Amino acid sequence: MSRVIDKSNPLSLERKAEPPSDAATPAYQTYFEDEQKRVRLYLGDCLDVMGAAPEGCVDLIFADPPYFLSNDGITCYAGKMVSVNKGKWDRSKGFDQNFRFTTEWLAACQRVLKPNGTIWVSGTHHVIHLVGVAMQWLGYKILNDITWEKPNPPPNLSCRYFVHATETIIWAAKDRKSRHHFDYQLMKKLSGDRQMKSVWRIAPPNGFEKRYGKHPTQKPEALLDRIILASSRPGDLVLDPFCGSDATGVSAVRHGRKHIGIEMSKEWLDAARKRLLDELGKKQQMHVGDMDG
Ligand SMILES: C[S@@+](CC[C@H](N)C(=O)[O-])C[C@H]1O[C@@H](n2cnc3c(N)ncnc32)[C@H](O)[C@@H]1O
Repeated sequence: MSRVIDKSNPLSLERKAEPPSDAATPAYQTYFEDEQKRVRLYLGDCLDVMGAAPEGCVDLIFADPPYFLSNDGITCYAGKMVSVNKGKWDRSKGFDQNFRFTTEWLAACQRVLKPNGTIWVSGTHHVIHLVGVAMQWLGYKILNDITWEKPNPPPNLSCRYFVHATETIIWAAKDRKSRHHFDYQLMKKLSGDRQMKSVWRIAPPNGFEKRYGKHPTQKPEALLDRIILASSRPGDLVLDPFCGSDATGVSAVRHGRKHIGIEMSKEWLDAARKRLLDELGKKQQMHVGDMDG
């Protein structure tokens, strides 16, 4: 059966997506959007959604792509030995295919970024070096590599490696001509009036952040708060092409940014929708409160 690509810009919250044709399976579909058009979630492949969008329509991207680490190893969780596997989406397909996929989605992100827009990509050593090479090959300008340090990492069961206690997050501008936005003063203030360093010690998501489902690679809201505050302005559009349970969306709403999330699993979109509704509800209450006051 042929797949239909929606021709209206899927990365615009103002424009209504065309209804999918009955004759064929749509390549992606809107899973959730709020009435005030601040957020939209798509069910589908991020390459299809970004491929249908025009160039230069997104201010900021946070991407937490597959890690390619679910290859039947073991790890430690809550003191027990468990499989490291996170899902089929996370299996390695071999170096060539992993690199091709990484280059494809990074090229799609670069195309939809505005000229001064920036992208953040997180990952472990299984994927982040591929990301760095692909970014340089595509002509992105790398701005920083942040080391996210986890305060209480699980022990290394094999005792043949150091404890894995960090992830890397690369921050890059669309190209060398970009004049990227950085809220230097706010970051300095958050850092006790000293320039903020590129090592960030932030706890993993707590039980409350996982109340609607435990995504195996869920990011803490505090990490996204810092990223969004550092590199976007109120009203900007923040895209997450691999949104999972959508810490990015929650943080975007919290700080008055618009958001589009893309995810190919309904299970995680359901958790994301519930989290977004809670956060949008808080905003609504704040607004009513403001009027009362
Ligand atoms: C590393 S996880 C992201 C977790 C997310 N940052 C969170 O806080 O919950 C990657 C997610 O990307 C999704 N995914 C993998 N390939 C995809 C694709 N081509 N298009 C859209 N989503 C994809 C997976 O289902 C998975 O939930």
